Amino acid sequence: MPDRAESSAIESGLHERRLFSPAPEFAERAHVRTLDEYRALHKRSIEDPEGFWAEAAGHLEWFSPWKKVLEWKAPDAKWFVGATTNLCHNCVDRHVKDGHGDETAVIWEGEPMQPAGPETAHITYADLQRETAKFGNVLKSLGVRKGDVVTIYMPMIPELAVAVLACARIGAVHSVIFGGFSASAIADRVHDAKSRVIVTADGGWRRGKIVPLKDNVDAACTQIDTIDHVVVVQRTGEQTVWHAKPSDSHGGKRDHWWHDLMAAADENCPCEHMDSEDPLFVLYTSGTTGKPKGILHTTGGYMVQTALTAKVVFDLKPGEDVYWCTADLGWVTGHSYIVYGVMPNRVPTLMYEGAPDYPDKDRFWSIVARHKVSKFYTAPTAIRAFMKWGEEHPKKHDLSSLRVLGTVGEPINPEAWMWYHRVIGAERCPIVDTWWQTETGGHMITPLPGATPTKPGSCTLPFFGVDAAIVNDQGEEQPLNSGGLLAIRRPWPSMLRGILGDRQRFIDTYWSRIRNDKGEPYYFAGDGARRDEDGYFWIMGRVDDVINVSGHRLGTMEVESALVSHEAVVEAAVVGMPHEIKGTGIAAFVTLAPGFEASEALRTALRAHVGEEIGAIAKPDQIRFAEAVPKTRSGKIMRRLLRDIAAGRADTGDTTTLEDFSVLAKLRESEES
Ligand code: WT7
Repeated sequence: MPDRAESSAIESGLHERRLFSPAPEFAERAHVRTLDEYRALHKRSIEDPEGFWAEAAGHLEWFSPWKKVLEWKAPDAKWFVGATTNLCHNCVDRHVKDGHGDETAVIWEGEPMQPAGPETAHITYADLQRETAKFGNVLKSLGVRKGDVVTIYMPMIPELAVAVLACARIGAVHSVIFGGFSASAIADRVHDAKSRVIVTADGGWRRGKIVPLKDNVDAACTQIDTIDHVVVVQRTGEQTVWHAKPSDSHGGKRDHWWHDLMAAADENCPCEHMDSEDPLFVLYTSGTTGKPKGILHTTGGYMVQTALTAKVVFDLKPGEDVYWCTADLGWVTGHSYIVYGVMPNRVPTLMYEGAPDYPDKDRFWSIVARHKVSKFYTAPTAIRAFMKWGEEHPKKHDLSSLRVLGTVGEPINPEAWMWYHRVIGAERCPIVDTWWQTETGGHMITPLPGATPTKPGSCTLPFFGVDAAIVNDQGEEQPLNSGGLLAIRRPWPSMLRGILGDRQRFIDTYWSRIRNDKGEPYYFAGDGARRDEDGYFWIMGRVDDVINVSGHRLGTMEVESALVSHEAVVEAAVVGMPHEIKGTGIAAFVTLAPGFEASEALRTALRAHVGEEIGAIAKPDQIRFAEAVPKTRSGKIMRRLLRDIAAGRADTGDTTTLEDFSVLAKLRESEES
């Protein structure tokens, strides 16, 4: 393999096949230094998974040891059976105990720009220990007990990290809802999780404007009556209406200021001893039905895999690194790679409140330069936006602190990969393209930055302990370079343990599609992929009715349900379409109720309606009015035809008025059924 150089491009399939090897001076100091070392460790992890993961678990602190590393009866896994531990202890208290209390745990930067620069904060492990203990006591005073679900709907401010860690501290299960979701989305999730407490803020800053988080919570509370307490951080000074709840012990109050409750809270709140399989959090994600599902993660296995992957994939070293993941904590990326995986490694984790283009398009690079960020993790959609904005923005700043660049959320197109490599990484930083999912909890297929030669657009090789394969429905491995279903053939520590309250959906979605010849189910990821002659994985995208918009997962049926809940819409069909920045955009075909006319005003109203039902990320990029939604004889929406039309691959003639698909539909019927 040529040293640090790029070997010549070999054309194969759709992708560029250049090979980028890590620089020797980087590799020799890395946690995993060579491809051979990776292969040996991977082999060992597959031959002796229990030995491998027990060793990894040994780097974390447990209150009592496990009796068994793994108990597996498909589809149910138990990891570190019988052990007790606590995530907040491993993220925070442990470092204080070991004498690192005054080191920085969280670097925070707010969005607004003051004349003297942005507002920033350095929060130490000792600060976090005190704050999570106090907020743990606050939650207890509001009646929250071990196992109760606390809903968190907050901007990216330090109190958000305090809130999730405080839940972990007292054994409450958090359900974080992304601040971009609407009141209806909050109501659905609160109802599903039977949550009685919401933590929010008066507002959050986004592109210079205030996102009215508390108002959204209030609106959600008019749709559900189970919420007893709303705790509100004062962030923006935005006025909000204060509500009461007559029937409780807090003097009839429903709404409370965070600072009032914290002022009165005791600083002594020991970390609860959690069973390894006690729930840690639930996080809602879209599926193929109209209703998002609450993915359930537990304590021990999740902790071990997120901590190990963060350490090895980002090559984290305490005292050297400043780590920044640009995701919002409302997504799994934020859970695993802003908080839970990073903090046990005692590396400062940066949280930024706002938008990448506020006040200008160089904001991210100004953050990297000012805080000397060494490990940077973002999404392909962001990289495509940066490309479009131009090189002059990163060029204004000193990015020489960067060491490793990461990407996640969707396949990265080779052009974006090359730009990231050249303009941000100065052709010296390894890129880790990490494939994983809300359900997998942690990285599954990813390069190791000192060991794995990378190819633009490939997530390369499976992480330790991960038995990934390209198979057909019979579980048979497919030949190299021919596509198939991405399957995981054995359990991994940070795998989901279920869908909250829906055992059957858990089985149907993940454990029914693929079985081996012994009838044992494999984990079905929902992605199509292929492996090349080097064994590298290339993700080809979802094989179900899920679309990936800007790295965020959306169910087409979810958007369809939102559309048909509008009085003007009788029927809707939603498909993905190519989009320059988002990767996949949303195209909606709707048929109108009698008395409604197709118009630009109605398009605008429908987009706004979807925004209210789900959130801005679900607003269709394209709405087409149709006479009827084309269906097969068996009544299935002809999605392939609609995808072709949305992508401009099939012409339906006049698209400005009502579209009549009847002719095209007939032509395609045989294909689709
Ligand atoms: C889906 C999971 C994992 C956090 C972000 C999204 C796609 C994710 C990659 C990647 C190609 C990727 C897959 C997957 N995806 N990472 N590196 N290369 N595709 O989490 O919302 O649970 O979505 O995102 O399609 O199934 P999520």
